[in-house]
Amino acid sequence: MTTPPLLVTCGLPYTNGPCHLGHLRTYVPADCYVRYMRRTGEEVVFVCGSDNHGTPIVVSAEEQGVSPRALSERYHVHFDETFKRMGVRFDRFGMTDDPTDQHRTTSIVNELVKNGYVYKQSVHQAYCTRCKRFLPDRYVEGICPHCGTPARGDECDQGCGKHLEPGEIKDPVCKVCGTKAEFRDQEHYFFKLSGFKDFLLTFLDGVKGTSNAKNYAIGWIKEELHDWCITRTLEWGVKFPGRDDLVVYVWVDAPIGYIAFTEEWAAGAKEDWKRFWCGENRVTHFIGGDIIYHHCIFWPALLKAAGYGVPHAIVASGMVKVDDHKFSKSRGYVVWTNEDYLDRGLPADYLRYYLLAYTSHTKELNFSWKVFGERINNEVVNILGNFVYRTLFFAQKEFGGVPAGVVDPMILQEINKSLATVDRLMKEYEFKGAVDAIMALAAFGNTYIQTSAPWKLVKTDRVAAAQVIKNCIQITQALALLIEPVMPEKAQACWTMLGHDDEVGAHTVSDAVVPVTEGSIRTPSPLFTKMEEAQVAELDALLQKRVAEANKKMEKTPIVSFEEFQKLELRTGRVLAAEPVKKSNKLLKLQVDIGGETRQIVAGMQQFYTPDELVGRDVVVMVNLAPAKIFGIESNGMVLAAGEAASLLVPLKPVEPGSKIR
Ligand code: MSP
Ligand code: ZN
Repeated sequence: MTTPPLLVTCGLPYTNGPCHLGHLRTYVPADCYVRYMRRTGEEVVFVCGSDNHGTPIVVSAEEQGVSPRALSERYHVHFDETFKRMGVRFDRFGMTDDPTDQHRTTSIVNELVKNGYVYKQSVHQAYCTRCKRFLPDRYVEGICPHCGTPARGDECDQGCGKHLEPGEIKDPVCKVCGTKAEFRDQEHYFFKLSGFKDFLLTFLDGVKGTSNAKNYAIGWIKEELHDWCITRTLEWGVKFPGRDDLVVYVWVDAPIGYIAFTEEWAAGAKEDWKRFWCGENRVTHFIGGDIIYHHCIFWPALLKAAGYGVPHAIVASGMVKVDDHKFSKSRGYVVWTNEDYLDRGLPADYLRYYLLAYTSHTKELNFSWKVFGERINNEVVNILGNFVYRTLFFAQKEFGGVPAGVVDPMILQEINKSLATVDRLMKEYEFKGAVDAIMALAAFGNTYIQTSAPWKLVKTDRVAAAQVIKNCIQITQALALLIEPVMPEKAQACWTMLGHDDEVGAHTVSDAVVPVTEGSIRTPSPLFTKMEEAQVAELDALLQKRVAEANKKMEKTPIVSFEEFQKLELRTGRVLAAEPVKKSNKLLKLQVDIGGETRQIVAGMQQFYTPDELVGRDVVVMVNLAPAKIFGIESNGMVLAAGEAASLLVPLKPVEPGSKIR
């Protein structure tokens, strides 16, 4: 039997915000894996796309006053460009809102219905009486029924991480207006997930990939497996067949994007997408640890129920943290790929190296600029860069390029050992181990050139010195080939300096042991430059500043519910009299008509208004402020003003004194 072709996918980025370091931990390792597998001669197709549906995108679009489609297109282009800058090269980067996914989703949902896996049921759903609408997913916030932590409608994101079904969240509050939501009955469609327990346990037992994905999912299934509500009351999304008022849940059409994008690629490449998806396949999903549930439970059950092949492998990374804190845009613990990194001229390859080499793929990755700088300088610059530059510099200077002679079998053996280790670890998704093995070969080269000291040897034994350099060039060639999946741009630069005119990516890794031939090379220059201490400090300061600002903002502006806001009684008032408060050069004593009642209010406005300017004016008064004595004078309320010069807030059109502000 022939092995089916390899299809690699990445978790699709939502189109409601820019690319950050957390995202990259899905895309960079996947790209490295794809490049490596291609370097072994495999046929690989690599697809991804943007995830355009779901409530977060609708909420963001509403906030920005644009359509969800326009917002999605903007971020779609952003991700596409960012991935290219990072050297992440998809064969297809589609959109889930495009027709291919719409069609494929409709077709799969029809299949599910036809095969008897879908039923209709009425559910209690959060409803906002003020916004007059049902509140799906992120339109609602409340308390997780499992662990009691504040949660979003569809996910306990701060607590236990569990997926929440519509109606499950406790104490729901409308995210848009802050009103306490009520539960109302609404008709929805459910997928009979609970019937897939045995299938899923068997599937998970055999699925390849990383053990974290498998083990978490098995644990969850053993705990409980409910049926799954697959519709939402939204305008934006893929319509549920036959229902104009419902769309499918975003986690139905999003993974179907993997199929749709393969179809789109296949149409362009004159290929058959079914080869990748139906029957035995080698579909390999790269995702972050936060979406294991969706990929290991929902998705295989859906595929199975609709008659498609199930995924071959699920590769889940550990989550990225920043300075030991959970990634959080609102708390400032975020590193933006463009703004903080690429736009500052920092090389994409450094970040790729760091993400791959920092820690085992399934472990948490705790980012800090300091460690980033250290790893780049100590490993990339000092070991790899140093070896390559010394080798090429000396070869050029003494021999005008690659000297004649035969490469030492001992050297070829060492390279073969590295090739075998890298091959095993890459295929086990142990990217850190693979990068370590490549760096170990560079370190071996460094020790070899250091102890052989060809710069001394050349004075006494030119042939022996040539032999050393020949060996070192063989190692350099191997390093260029091996490091390409990790640092594609630098690998190409190294390859070009070695005198080649073609692309390093066009070669298989096995070319690492093809003996280098005598000939010229290009004038070498250092491949890498050090991260300056000042630069690292600046990047770190930027991050600390962002965290501090986020903290301040959170302290200053707690979210206030509509109910809380309603407790403030704000009315218009007409100033009847005003006089300076004795012995004060700041305060004015005002008498204000707030609608049939006159209030005495002390206001700090003496420097800004004469009493005459104020009398007869309509102003805004906070009526139910607790009374206070200021300079011994009773003050019953507050007149609202803005800015340094206490610009008074006044009604635009005439109103009766005492009109309520709403
Ligand atoms: N749209 C969903 C995925 C749908 S797949 C059918 C989603 N989008 S995302 O924009 O939030 O994340 C995109 C990818 O980045 C996912 O693979 C996700 O796991 C990964 N990460 C996003 N933030 C992350 C960290 N802080 N750490 C590690 N990876 C995380 O999820
Ligand atoms: Zn919870």
